[in-house]
Amino acid sequence: KKIQVNINSVLSTVSEKDIHALETSTAADALEKLREGTGEGNDFLGWLDLPSRTPMHHLDEIIAVANDLRNSCDYVVSVGIGGSYLGAKAVIEALGNSFDAYTPATPGSPKVLFAGQNIGEDYLHELQAFLADKRFGIIVISKSGTTTEPAIAFRLLKEQLEKQVGKAEACKRIVAITDAKRGALRQLATEEGYKTFVIDDNVGGRFSVLTPVGLLPIAVAGYDVKKLVKGALAMQEECMTSSEANVCQLYASTRNLLYRAGKKIEILVNYNPKLHYFGEWWKQLYGESEGKDHKGIFPAAVDFSTDLHSMGQWIQDGERSIFETVISVETPDNKTVIPSDDANLDGLNYIAGKRVDEVNKMAELGTRIAHVDGGVPNIRITVPELSEEYLGQLIYFFELSCGMSGYILGVNPFNQPGVEAYKRNMFALLEKPGYEEDTKAIQAKLND
Ligand code: PA5
Repeated sequence: KKIQVNINSVLSTVSEKDIHALETSTAADALEKLREGTGEGNDFLGWLDLPSRTPMHHLDEIIAVANDLRNSCDYVVSVGIGGSYLGAKAVIEALGNSFDAYTPATPGSPKVLFAGQNIGEDYLHELQAFLADKRFGIIVISKSGTTTEPAIAFRLLKEQLEKQVGKAEACKRIVAITDAKRGALRQLATEEGYKTFVIDDNVGGRFSVLTPVGLLPIAVAGYDVKKLVKGALAMQEECMTSSEANVCQLYASTRNLLYRAGKKIEILVNYNPKLHYFGEWWKQLYGESEGKDHKGIFPAAVDFSTDLHSMGQWIQDGERSIFETVISVETPDNKTVIPSDDANLDGLNYIAGKRVDEVNKMAELGTRIAHVDGGVPNIRITVPELSEEYLGQLIYFFELSCGMSGYILGVNPFNQPGVEAYKRNMFALLEKPGYEEDTKAIQAKLND
């Protein structure tokens, strides 16, 4: 079984003929540019054949290192931001128990916590207080090795770990994932003698979930990274050939045509709260890849039915500049049936005997009809179940579609020059050595 893409509910806005015309022209060219490496940003195409070129012994090594951490730690803090954070977080949340946060970690099955994805003093303080009496380890992830947020978190946690267990044991419980040669983290890891994994130069952060960046924390959390890569490989094999049935070509073409028809905002919708962080991962992938040269679909995400009670009004009746892409999971992992109640005081007996998911599916169908009637086109992506294999498919599906979509839009989907602007100002304000001129300029601006 594979994930499916259904575009029937966009056809009152864009025609099937136009979608297929784009699929077989610009989208097919985009796929060829990716395959041949002839498009802009072609030095960042390492993700394209990553599933097929990841050798089994590499996955075995990741699993072995994960097992060492699983044996020595009850908590493992994955330190990273952006592409060095969101992929692992998305997969772990999608596969995990929703109440994991309340379950004490047990030996051999550590809980993965995250840090370095913000500069929240309370967050870091509370994390450190929480870890004070815990057996913990650290995976520190930064491709550049110089990103401020994870560097701060790592400095704090490294010092804490060394105090708690001594330098030698701390060294065994720290794994660094970074560039082969460049960056402060590489130098630090070499000096301290940490186990390291390399992020290839040609794999950008937001495309790195299927490298050790995502795979190591996912394996530490106890999930099967071989199945994840296998799922991605199935999608790679299916979608590398251009055809109208190619789901990536179909999705990339449809969303671009909707954009051209004035639908400037894409809302990724889930009906399963476990996919909340998948939406965050997707937002980074598409936002950072397409939002440039003053163009690009704005990627937003909602959790339904929760957000039908907050954003539902806007989506139904607000400005008609949006379309929805729904990730619909066909079968939940667990079965819960709504019980019958003799008194029926809540009036719910009409759904007694139904699975909760049947109600959820009717909420989904009813919402789709209402939103399409209200002028919101709807792309539907069906996933058989939330498992490593299907998540692997979904990840690769969105990555390949993103590369194609960026080329259809006419931008380089593989750079992120806009991310630097805030950093320059922050460094100037913090008077980082090397930023003296920027400090003067920004202070003059503040004094205006
Ligand atoms: O996609 C990207 O390149 C970025 O979002 C990075 O992942 C993010 O800025 C973190 O960078 P690094 O891994 O170099 O610390």
